[in-house]
Amino acid sequence: MNKPLYVLNGPNLNLLGTREPEIYGSATLSDVENMCRKRASEFNYEIDFRQSNHEGELVDWIQEAREKASGIIINAAAFTHTSVAIHDALKSVSVPKIEVHISNPATRESFRHTSFVAPASTSVVAGFGINSYDLAILGIVRILQAV
Ligand code: DQA
Repeated sequence: MNKPLYVLNGPNLNLLGTREPEIYGSATLSDVENMCRKRASEFNYEIDFRQSNHEGELVDWIQEAREKASGIIINAAAFTHTSVAIHDALKSVSVPKIEVHISNPATRESFRHTSFVAPASTSVVAGFGINSYDLAILGIVRILQAV
């Protein structure tokens, strides 16, 4: 049995569907979770899907993934642009790590152009709406199957 894929979501993503729908769309985080589970099951992976508004909790989960996960898909949301702690935690993990964004931060405000997650990640998927998560699962499975 494969270890699960951790899909970690940062601050305010619990509000997906009602928060700035013109940017993030009308699907909820639970819709995203269902989509991830469905896609991962095609490849015999389970999903451990979590959301937190707290930086330290995300750091704890990344550390946990060192032993317990096949890989990490992370939308660190606003912490993407601020968190050295999340960067350092990701650096400590040797499984594949995919940075995900619903929007494309590069086309938005300049404070979103810096990512502390990207330099600690294997790959980045952004700007496909919630389908970014789907593409990240397809991508991480390709990486895992190549190992
Ligand atoms: C986001 C982009 C971030 O800049 C923002 O802070 C978010 C969501 C995205 O998925 O597009 O909360 O990570």
